[in-house]
Amino acid sequence: TQTLTLLGLESSCDDTAAAIVRQQDGAPAEILSSVVFGQTELHSAFGGVVPEIAARAHAEKLDTCVRDALSEANLTLDDLDAIAVTAGPGLIGGVMSGVMCAKGIAAAKGLPLVGVNHLAGHALTPRLTDDIAYPYLMLLVSGGHCQYLIARGPEAFSRLGGTIDDAPGEAFDKTARLLGLPQPGGPSVQKEAEHGDPARFRFPRPLLDRPDCNLSFSGLKTALMRMRDQIVTEKTGLTRQDRADLCAGFQAAIVDTLVQKTRRALTLYLDEAPAIPTLAVAGGVAANTEIRAGLVALCAELETDFLAPPLNLCTDNAAMIAYAGLERFRTGARDGMDLVARPRWPL
Ligand code: KG4
Ligand code: ZN
Repeated sequence: TQTLTLLGLESSCDDTAAAIVRQQDGAPAEILSSVVFGQTELHSAFGGVVPEIAARAHAEKLDTCVRDALSEANLTLDDLDAIAVTAGPGLIGGVMSGVMCAKGIAAAKGLPLVGVNHLAGHALTPRLTDDIAYPYLMLLVSGGHCQYLIARGPEAFSRLGGTIDDAPGEAFDKTARLLGLPQPGGPSVQKEAEHGDPARFRFPRPLLDRPDCNLSFSGLKTALMRMRDQIVTEKTGLTRQDRADLCAGFQAAIVDTLVQKTRRALTLYLDEAPAIPTLAVAGGVAANTEIRAGLVALCAELETDFLAPPLNLCTDNAAMIAYAGLERFRTGARDGMDLVARPRWPL
């Protein structure tokens, strides 16, 4: 058995992160440190992530994140077996910053380099946190992603379906913006929805008439805009209750759609009949209490384990990248100095 210690770097969106993960062959992995430097304030005035600002901030912060990850773990670069880095998909300037930093360290220290797909990082998180066996069903729901994957191995994923337009987090964020609620939209919409009536406004349930696992969320935003404008024309503005009812109706539509499409994905996955079937979720939207409750109930009905890793490992972080790199490294995968940063990279 071989103990492996990897440094992971993540810089594909608006979080600069470095982490160190160690695993003894056959034992569960251990997170020795995980440092995340968020850029939310840098982008808050622009209503979204500005790629150029993100890339500069990553380039500035990566080295201090690496330094902090090492010191938190009480290690030096000499203790590492390899460096894992997100090589895509994501905002290209940020991904390049991470890849350049990883190459620099690898070259200086003569360490092997392992490029990691950011989505594989999310998809392998349940193995990092709970050591679960393949195959399991994964639902990725964040501000940028929404897809169903059957994870069969560190580089073997079957995509069952996903959003054909917006990700659900994006829909929550746009809804919040349309209603004048603070960003990030997910938590604010969820909070408003708590005292709203989900039945007052009837939002569409896109693609539920199709038998596949694809989803669509951009129509919800259009519907919301129409409902809002109608209230504003009829009265003089939105009341607190109007806003709460709109949020509740919107959220109910998302919960309904996700639960029904997850039922389809689970049915396909259960056909493979693993010994202990598991549905795992990752991504910021997995924090939504209504979505979670819907998925928990569905899993109970279909006798499937439900697994939601701790939120700090569901959202962007480098521990998942170090771990995904470690799994790849164990299979013998190595990347050279020709490793490229990829803006698009489907699993
Ligand atoms: O995974 P994440 O931190 O970042 C990426 O998208 O990569 O996810 C952030 C997204 C945001 O769109 C945010 O509004 C959403 O997750 N979110 C939520 C909740 N908390 C965060 N959406 C719905 N309900 C929540 N409680
Ligand atoms: Zn992500």
